[in-house]
Amino acid sequence: MQVITRRSALTPLLLRLRAEGHTIGFVPTMGALHEGHISLVAESRQRASITVASVFVNPTQFNDPADLEKYPRQPEQDAQMLEKAGCDYLYLPGVEDVYPNGTQGGPLFDLGGLDTRLEGASRPGHFAGVAQVVQVLVETAVPDYLCMGQKDFQQCMVVQALLQQMRAEFDRKAAAAQDTLQESETESLLWTPHHTSLVICPIIREAHGLAMSSRNVRLSPELRLRAGAIYATMQYAASLLPVLSIDTISQVCTENLNAEPDFKVDYFLLLDAAGLQAVHAQTTEIVIITAVLVGGVRLLDNMVVAYPTV
Ligand code: PAJ
Repeated sequence: MQVITRRSALTPLLLRLRAEGHTIGFVPTMGALHEGHISLVAESRQRASITVASVFVNPTQFNDPADLEKYPRQPEQDAQMLEKAGCDYLYLPGVEDVYPNGTQGGPLFDLGGLDTRLEGASRPGHFAGVAQVVQVLVETAVPDYLCMGQKDFQQCMVVQALLQQMRAEFDRKAAAAQDTLQESETESLLWTPHHTSLVICPIIREAHGLAMSSRNVRLSPELRLRAGAIYATMQYAASLLPVLSIDTISQVCTENLNAEPDFKVDYFLLLDAAGLQAVHAQTTEIVIITAVLVGGVRLLDNMVVAYPTV
């Protein structure tokens, strides 16, 4: 595996590989890797001939400086894990390589209100930061397959919206430049946002059901074990679907989790999985989606189930 710290080195290399007929799978991460991340590398390798991963703790998606400070960093161990998993290139940039013009003033994306609910409500600006960095990373890694985890369900929807806007923006510029396309621009046509599709990969869990997360290391062993209650409660919610109303299930499950010492539910909701809105007449799948503070550590989880159940 080759470690590359500069966008100016990585992108031309990957475009050359594309010109030779390779396909590229890309796994963006913030490091402190675990089996969940590695499953994305495995998925990428199934689909593409070249796999690129990035490790970059993106400052613009942290609304709490203390959270950014505390975010676990272990680049050497990450590199070893990626190498072992068969990753071909690791992009390991500094802040100045990702944001050469500073972190302010990048393009603003219309995330259709997705960015202000659930995680967005609790963490203002978080998804704008995610969209900002994913755009840069995708343009750097020029992938066919962007492999991301269902673990961050809302993030997947934000990235889907981002990709749509990147494609529309590309089309708009291409139409405007139709007659004046320069020779130098043809190389960049080896990749356009139309080449990239989002691949959403299943949630990898610890044996007792807790979704793997880089944040789990901040839990005491006791809390880590008890945090398995989040998964158990989502399963319970799914089992109640045929018998109770959505609102009642949400309320019962919130109460059950809040009754656990050191647990504080931010939200536990059952929503239409396609739009993350209230369940409606056309809903075919529900996402049970939750954020729980366990000993002050924010844990996210979700589960998609068919609806109606009969
Ligand atoms: P990070 O939290 O490091 O997660 C990187 C990727 O791993 C995301 O797509 C996430 O959904 C996935 N992932 C995390 N835990 C998982 C699990 N238990 N099972 C399966 N996949 C899992 O998400 C980010 O970083 C950042 O926001 C990023 C997209 C890199 C932008 O900075």
